[in-house]
Order: sequence, then structure tokens, then C-alpha cells
Amino acid sequence: MSMSSASTGVPTALTNVHAQATLKDAFKNDFLIGAALNEAEITGQNINAVALVKAQFNTISPENVLKWEPVHPEPDRYDFAAADRYVEFGQKNGMFVVGHTVVWHNQTPEWVFQDGNGKDIDRDTLLRRMRDHIHTVIGRYKGRIKDWDVVNEALNEDGTLRQSRWMKIIGEDYIAKAFEFAHEADPEAELYYNDFALEEEPKRKGAVELIKKLKARGVPITAVGLQGHLKMDWPTLEQEDATIADFARLGVKVAITELDIDVVPATQENKTADINVNAQLVAGADTYSKGLPDDVQQALAKRYAGLFEVYLKHRDVIGRVTFWGVTDGDSWLNTQGRVNHPLLFDRDGQPKPAFTAVIRAAAK
Ligand code: G3I
Repeated sequence: MSMSSASTGVPTALTNVHAQATLKDAFKNDFLIGAALNEAEITGQNINAVALVKAQFNTISPENVLKWEPVHPEPDRYDFAAADRYVEFGQKNGMFVVGHTVVWHNQTPEWVFQDGNGKDIDRDTLLRRMRDHIHTVIGRYKGRIKDWDVVNEALNEDGTLRQSRWMKIIGEDYIAKAFEFAHEADPEAELYYNDFALEEEPKRKGAVELIKKLKARGVPITAVGLQGHLKMDWPTLEQEDATIADFARLGVKVAITELDIDVVPATQENKTADINVNAQLVAGADTYSKGLPDDVQQALAKRYAGLFEVYLKHRDVIGRVTFWGVTDGDSWLNTQGRVNHPLLFDRDGQPKPAFTAVIRAAAK
């Protein structure tokens, strides 16, 4: 736990951070820079992280509070308490507020796809439920949430469409319908297709074809989210560069929506961000349970600097870079015994060498 400074009571690490250069100032002429907030940050319970968010970022994303399961747990019940606090936090602090996510194969309750007897419903019924949910949720925050991850992770690693319940019951056009409903609900919002590992050629090709098809049909998709759940050596900077360029050529905006870098040696080969896969225990996942050795800190700093140089090269199409968490202790990558160090601030809210390297990349 960091010491608190005598005068203000604000933890020293944070007074240092306040004295430090800030990410939002460093990139103010390039793109917005943000973080995903968890409930402890949204409610203000984690005061250290909240101070860091206010000091360092100008956009926020909801790690979980706007997913279907927490917001619409039963057919006739919505629960917007946490989501409202999230949006209020963003508005009160003058931040660009992001919405994540309305149509996804994860964290969507079983009732959405079933009738009262537990049998799958038909296409028209599911489309009606999708439309009601999207109109209710996106409509509620119309004009306040500016970017929406409308469809999340609809592709398999080989670029084919994931055989989710959405796909099986409605058919391929569930994606187009989701975007049309979202646009009806808020015609001003940027509407994203959001996915991970699009740097891999087969999956990227599938996403490019999908977006081309949607745009050719006049579907109101305006942006693509490269989630950015990355590894120390994957993707290469060339792959990252080529991926952003491929989507820029489609005439859509690009955002890095969920950036983190898994440093644990045992999971470097695992390129998926699917929570169901990452929730499995991996031997050696606790390699850095006592902290990150300095050589790895320096390697992480170099890795982040290289990635930000690529993002800066594409500053004309990249509108936002969002980290998937505020401090290392918040990260979803700490599941199943893993102790990970994927972000720019450590478990005490202290800036890591990677923070300094990213600030330096902006100044180049
Ligand atoms: O809120 C409930 C709580 O009431 C319950 O007691 C507890 C135990 O069951 O679960 C809590 O919900 C958990 C939720 O996080 C909030 O903490 C879910 O089980 C857990 O699965 C969920 O994990 C999130 C995961 O998405 C699945 O929704 C991670 O925090 C979040 O970082 C991760 O983020 C995803 C993006 O949304 C999409 N891209 C990939 C990324 C990483 O998987």
C-alpha cells in the first residue's frame, strides 16, 4: 500500500502521478486515451484508482456494467444502477464515454434465447428481444455514450462466423440487424464491430469481408475495435501496422479498445481473449507472483513504446486507445492463479517504466 503524503492525505504514488506528465496531455493532439472501469472504480470505492483515472485519462469504458447480464437480467427487469453511475462519472469528469456491449455470445442470460419451457425461440422473437434491449439501453444514454461496441467477437479464429445462439437462431443477418437497431436508437453514436486477434491474417480477412459486406448493404457500421489483448512478442509491429491499415482502407474509424499485454511466460502462445479459455488454470501462471523482474519491466516498456509508435503513425484513423483496466491489480488477466502485470500502473497505482516509455513515445 503506498504511503500517504503528510499534507493532503492523497497517497504519495498519486501525488507523484499528479506531478507526472499525463497520458491524456501527452496524446492530446493524437487520440483519446482511456481505461476500462470496474465496479469499485465506478462507485468510487477504489479512491486510488479513481484519482489515477481523473489525472491520466479522458475516456472511459465499462468493463462489465453495461453487458446484457447485469443490465437486463430478466425479461421484464432492467437494472441500470451501476451503468447510470458509470455514465454520471464520465459526464461529471468531462470524459468521452464508451458503451460496451449489446450483442455478444458471453454474459447474455439464457432466457434471451429461450421460451418459458426452456426451448429455443424463433428468429422473429429473438430479433424482437434484441431490438427491445438495444433500443432501451442505447436509447437511455443517447447523446451521452458516444461509441458503442454493438457486436462483440462474432468471428472464429479462421475468419468464419462464430456459431453463437444469435447466429443459429437468427442467421447471419443478426449482425446487420444489431447495427440497424443501434442506429435507430442513437443516430449520432459511432457504431463498432469489436474483436480480438484481428492481427491474425485469417481472422482479419474475415473481419474485412464482414465490414465490406455490411457497408455495401448500407448498414450503419462506422468503426472497428481492435481489442488489443496482446503478448510480449505477438503481434509483431508489422502485423499491427498492416492490420490498422487494412481497416483504414475500408473507410471506418479504428480504436484500440481493450489494450493490455500479458507478460506471463506460460500463456504467451494463447492468442484468444475469450474469457472461457482464459479462465482455465495454466501451470506457471504465477511466475511473477512476487512482482515483475526489472528486465521484464524494461521489455514491457519497449513493447508498449513500439506499439504506441504504430498507433501514432495511424493517428489520422485511430480515435481512441483504451487500456483494459487501470492498475495491474484490476486486470482480468489475473484469473485462475495468474499474477499478471499487463498495464502501465502497478498494484499500488505507481507508474511503471512502461508508463514513462509511452509518454516518451508521444514526445517523439
Ligand atoms: O458481477 C458478478 C457477481 O455478482 C458474481 O458474484 C460473480 C461470481 O459469479 O460474478 C460477477 O460477474 C463477473 C464479472 O466479470 C464482473 O466481475 C463474471 O463472473 C466474470 O465472468 C466477468 O468477467 C469479465 C469477462 O469479460 C466476461 O464478461 C471480465 O471482468 C472482463 O475483463 C472481460 O472483458 C472482456 C470484454 O468484455 C470483451 N473482450 C474480452 C475481454 C476479456 O475477456
